[in-house]
Amino acid sequence: MNFCTPATKKGSRPSSPEFAELAAKPELTRADLIKLLSAKAEDEIEAVRAEAERVLLAECGNGVYLRGLVEASNACACDCLYCGIRKSNREVNRYTLSLEDILSCARQCAEMGYGSMVIQSGERADKKFIDLIEEAVRRIRIETVSEKQPEGLGITLCIGQQTKETYQRLYAAGAHRYLLRIESTNPKLFAAIHPAEQSFESRVECLKLLREVGYQVGTGVMIGLPGQTLEDLADDILFFSTLDIDMIGMGPFIPHAGTPLGDLPCPDVAERLRLAFLMIAVTRLKLRDVNIAATTALQALDPIGREKGLRFGANVIMPQMSPTEVRADYQLYPGKPCIDENAKDCQSCLNMRVEFAGRKIGLYAWGDSLHARKRQTGGGHG
Ligand code: 5AD
Repeated sequence: MNFCTPATKKGSRPSSPEFAELAAKPELTRADLIKLLSAKAEDEIEAVRAEAERVLLAECGNGVYLRGLVEASNACACDCLYCGIRKSNREVNRYTLSLEDILSCARQCAEMGYGSMVIQSGERADKKFIDLIEEAVRRIRIETVSEKQPEGLGITLCIGQQTKETYQRLYAAGAHRYLLRIESTNPKLFAAIHPAEQSFESRVECLKLLREVGYQVGTGVMIGLPGQTLEDLADDILFFSTLDIDMIGMGPFIPHAGTPLGDLPCPDVAERLRLAFLMIAVTRLKLRDVNIAATTALQALDPIGREKGLRFGANVIMPQMSPTEVRADYQLYPGKPCIDENAKDCQSCLNMRVEFAGRKIGLYAWGDSLHARKRQTGGGHG
């Protein structure tokens, strides 16, 4: 399917009138979401994609925001049944970056004009690690201040479920966005892919705590999980809307051989990609002004997956910034791209990719979602 290259003339690709009309409906119901997610023929998918792109450009403009991704540690206290760095995977060479490593990634982000970074890690609540992250956040905000970025880099954290006190400490240190994926909003499916000690309710509770503390909150799901239905995916989108979520990061499920879900039957690659692109588009149609990431997992299954993600309504990309030496040790799923590259390689590759999708990179900007800026009185940052 060639839905990546920008169309030069309006309507140059066939588009189903039925799906175009449905996609343009002002209030999409659950049944509408399910129908849109069921688009299969090329003209049906194109109709949903084109409307999602139209909504994105009209609501949020054509900017693509970058968040340099630093994978601070692959040590993890959780045993999620799908994840390559789950604690019982003995094949993983565990690492934790030093404060200096994290700061040097941040300086590189700032030099390249990336307005924001994401610090991601396995889920760890040990004091040593939280102290490290707190100090890193504090120092990054001070050390990346420049004329072009008077407030320093924006910082998003993605380090799992923590106590309210921890969330508060890290917010006070200067982080202002937090990503915590719900993975699936069907509690039965959630239970099937997590060990008994991880509960759906406590994950939802954390999302609420994050909002209370003041973060802009991101969540997301995996798409194409064994046993997942279109109804589940439609409910995921309704959940994002009910929780007033600001940012969404979601991608296809990719079975990892070293995990219990590694050889359960799931939809084939083409089907998972179809669903993942449609989820981006339909989420854009329903939520309109949120930030949606074109995630790395899309590129793991399709060499131009992230560009396609942009064309289906995503407006954020997370370029890899982790030191090259540790990239291969942070494999949540197989086929992770860019493990042999460095941050500079990723920069020039991304510029090309974003332009190819007909969009512009927003440099030196935190790139908060319009949704968050509307909610916060007094507006947001650059
Ligand atoms: N396939 C796809 N995504 C995965 N993640 C973890 N393991 C996998 C996998 N096997 C995603 C989860 C997690 C995020 C950091 O990576 O959604 O929240």
